[in-house]
Amino acid sequence: MNKDDEREQMQHFTSAWENRAFGQSALVHADCLDWLSRVPENSIHAILTDPPYGVREYEACELEKLAAGRGGIWRIPPSFDGNLRAPLPRFTALDERDRIKMTLFFQEWARLCCRALRPGAHVFVASNAFIVPLLLASLIEGGLEFRGQMIRLVRTLRGGDRPKNAEQEFSFVSSMPRGCYEPWVLFRKPLLNGMKVSDALREFQTGGLRRLPNGNPFEDVIPSERTPKAERNIADHPSLKPQSLMRLLAYAALPLGEGVIVDPFAGSGSTIAAAEAVGVAAVGVERHRPYYDLAQKAVPKLAALPSRMDEVLGCGKNSDLFKVRAAFAAGPALAAE
Ligand SMILES: C[S@@+](CC[C@H](N)C(=O)[O-])C[C@H]1O[C@@H](n2cnc3c(N)ncnc32)[C@H](O)[C@@H]1O
Repeated sequence: MNKDDEREQMQHFTSAWENRAFGQSALVHADCLDWLSRVPENSIHAILTDPPYGVREYEACELEKLAAGRGGIWRIPPSFDGNLRAPLPRFTALDERDRIKMTLFFQEWARLCCRALRPGAHVFVASNAFIVPLLLASLIEGGLEFRGQMIRLVRTLRGGDRPKNAEQEFSFVSSMPRGCYEPWVLFRKPLLNGMKVSDALREFQTGGLRRLPNGNPFEDVIPSERTPKAERNIADHPSLKPQSLMRLLAYAALPLGEGVIVDPFAGSGSTIAAAEAVGVAAVGVERHRPYYDLAQKAVPKLAALPSRMDEVLGCGKNSDLFKVRAAFAAGPALAAE
């Protein structure tokens, strides 16, 4: 794709919606089901996203309860060290109806992704240990091809606590393991009949994963970290992912380093920021107005921060990419035409 084609394609992704441009990327204010059903067929090169795992936690009524600090699916996790924890969605609170709703939602989402993705395009989706079986089944049912799981090694605040209301009596028991990983699932839009990876690379710039600059393949166990405070200070979103992780995934998602990554559940824009940091284009779609507004401010600042993956990905302090994004963080973002 030449630069004119890329610009024209970005118009198709943005012009019918309220949007904001950042470098070669953009943020769109829309519901992703509507957006995915209206962008051109076979146009997206990769999806990298952290969806509302249980669907319910990001519905307007649950977000109101989160803001009010009372009831709903968002709960304060138990404190191990006396520090106040930020609320997290409690997925064990999902009932049968929620699970059916979630299954139908992700089936429909996968169908729409298949429509909009180029053949061979990869789809990276964050998940949760409780939800992952349902998510996998729904995405397969929706037409995506399962390509494996990735394990992000990170100590979460899930599990490890003593049986509720019997903590003293069973002080030597934990009700479930302490969470030390976050599962991600990897899918691909099926290749066309008889097509090989090399054909997909030539025709659609998809089909494979980009190797690291040192030639090593992308690996499916990723030593990671909790989102650093400097990033949380910029983007106060309850599900903010760290730049170190998102930059690695954004780098790997486009095998030739060409094309557009889409994050249909953009939140505060960490995927867009990561794409900008590693020098590729992304479009983020967010439907909740306060998060859309937050992302507009957060993306340039997140993109300008250093992360511990930068030297490995060739976008460290001495690289041209780093200088470009530092300048871009200092200036105002431009509205897309
Ligand atoms: C888990 S959060 C993603 C946060 C992101 N990882 C970040 O670092 O900021 C999911 C986001 O998807 C948004 N969302 C939920 N349903 C949506 C939909 N149908 N279309 C677009 N956005 C949606 C929510 O408002 C929420 O901000």
